[in-house]
Amino acid sequence: MTATAPAGMLTTSQGAQYARLLGVGGYRGSRVVDNDEMCTWIDSSDEWIRQRTGIVERRWATEDETPLSMAAAAARKALDRAGLAADQVDAVICSTVSHFQQTPSLAVLVADELDCGTPAAFDISAACAGFSYGVGMAESLVRSGAAINVLVIGVETLSRLTDLSDRSTAFLFSDGAGAVVVGPSDTPAIGPVVWGSEPGDHEVIQTRPWEVGNPEFPYIEMEGQKVFRWATTAIADKARECLRVAGLEPEQLDVFIPHQANNRITDSMLRHLKLPESVTVSRDITHMGNSSAASIPLAMEALLESGEATSGQTALVIGFGAGLVFAGQVLVLP
Ligand code: ACO
Repeated sequence: MTATAPAGMLTTSQGAQYARLLGVGGYRGSRVVDNDEMCTWIDSSDEWIRQRTGIVERRWATEDETPLSMAAAAARKALDRAGLAADQVDAVICSTVSHFQQTPSLAVLVADELDCGTPAAFDISAACAGFSYGVGMAESLVRSGAAINVLVIGVETLSRLTDLSDRSTAFLFSDGAGAVVVGPSDTPAIGPVVWGSEPGDHEVIQTRPWEVGNPEFPYIEMEGQKVFRWATTAIADKARECLRVAGLEPEQLDVFIPHQANNRITDSMLRHLKLPESVTVSRDITHMGNSSAASIPLAMEALLESGEATSGQTALVIGFGAGLVFAGQVLVLP
């Protein structure tokens, strides 16, 4: 939409007063890898992994399941639930760190696969904060008038970025896609995004640069304890800030969906935030592992499908990861 300006002045765009999530969809890698199978590659135990992370099993993509196929499947579900056709999408934002093709972007390939027409399409690299980065941008696009409906997809095949002999990372990561459609709303339904980065800590979680001729695959390297400390202190504060800037008290929250990195991190955040017992808390990591940018929308879909959460409830989401980067906001569930 454009707002007509007085003669001689530039015309600018103007969108809906508010934006909201119109639909959510997910796709999980179909291979189930339990802790016993994981321990065939690393020196660990089912008990240690359960105790330290809460993970019982994780989902990996099979050879036929790619970032494109999983992103498209999740997006189709989200569009269906939003009651929208693919050609009503004005922008596609994909958050991924495991689309192993420098260009074109995965978002363009998804737009092609879904037959979206000619939407704006681009990828973002914000690791486990990517979903909330994407929703924050989509909300701004809708309210500015740059787009009416925006597809936001978080998708990863982290099993392909993981060194299976590295006992400090191998048991954590998983593969899947989660998507939402963000569109216009008559009522406020997406709180302000609280986002940022810790640029000085870019080496805490990283893959080495791709180098032509380097026979070593650039797998994920992580200083797990540092991430753990950061998540349970600074990020817990950011989660509280999400509530504050949305004008909500903890008692007014229905659902908490932190990035599914580690159940102990979730427990620590809960203590920090002093959320009432009535709040539904996602533990999707138990049977999924950490799927980075896909983890929050996948967890959201699971809570809605199981009936543990319902449409219209208020949810706090927060993601954090490689960068280091973080982002969160309060959302009304679709
Ligand atoms: N199995 C068994 N023992 C292990 C394993 C393993 N896989 N890994 C480490 N240990 C041992 C260590 O050797 C150590 O033994 P010691 O006490 O005898 O020296 C002990 O277990 C504790 O090791 P820690 O590294 O301190 O284990 P910790 O409790 O920190 O758990 C974990 C490790 C699960 C990785 C945790 O640090 C964590 O979850 N960090 C956060 C990771 C995260 O959230 N990443 C998110 C971003 S991911 C992204 O952006 C793509």
